[in-house]
Amino acid sequence: MGFVSVLAFAQRLAAERLQPGEPAVDATAGTGVDTLFLAQKSGRRGTVYAFDIQQEALDRTRSRLGGQTGLADVRLLPLSHDRMEEALDPGHRGRLAAVMFNLGYLPGSDQALVTVPETTLPALDAACRLLRPGGVLTAVLYPGHEGGGREAACVESWAQALPGDAFEAITYRFVNRMADAPYLLAVTKRTRLH
Ligand SMILES: C[S@@+](CC[C@H](N)C(=O)[O-])C[C@H]1O[C@@H](n2cnc3c(N)ncnc32)[C@H](O)[C@@H]1O
Repeated sequence: MGFVSVLAFAQRLAAERLQPGEPAVDATAGTGVDTLFLAQKSGRRGTVYAFDIQQEALDRTRSRLGGQTGLADVRLLPLSHDRMEEALDPGHRGRLAAVMFNLGYLPGSDQALVTVPETTLPALDAACRLLRPGGVLTAVLYPGHEGGGREAACVESWAQALPGDAFEAITYRFVNRMADAPYLLAVTKRTRLH
């Protein structure tokens, strides 16, 4: 049996932690795959915040959610993810079970509207503050497009600098594929200081 894809591994990490009723964030809604996944896991009593700077992405996400039942309250937010903290209900701050980032550009859309470290890194910092102990942040990195290599390197440096007594950080990567293939970086907030 082969290893699961990078995207599936990110969802697996989130699914292991996100309990019904818990809040979660999709930091890059795109076509809504992760938003729908989080909304299913969080369920009727839960809340999912989905951020994207492109209205087209939020529209695609809304249509993916359409007709589905048993979903969380999904808030589609036309905001940059570095404004995550202010966009959350105060009661959800420090309570997030999962925050998912899928960096890069919207498939089939303007490749100039791409995530950039100048907003990605503040958003990752905010996500770390907003997670509950035991919660997870996932970031799929795409070194293959222009600027993507710089962004992936910035995110890796950011993760390496996280204090080890408060966070654990890993990568999940196929090492015998092309060097610029997408890979996952994940961070979990430790439940107690070591
Ligand atoms: C790779 S796509 C996400 C794919 C998505 N997870 C899916 O299921 O299709 C990246 C998305 O990030 C969005 N984006 C770029 N910069 C952003 C920012 N500063 N804040 C929020 N979203 C951003 C883009 O508009 C794009 O839709």
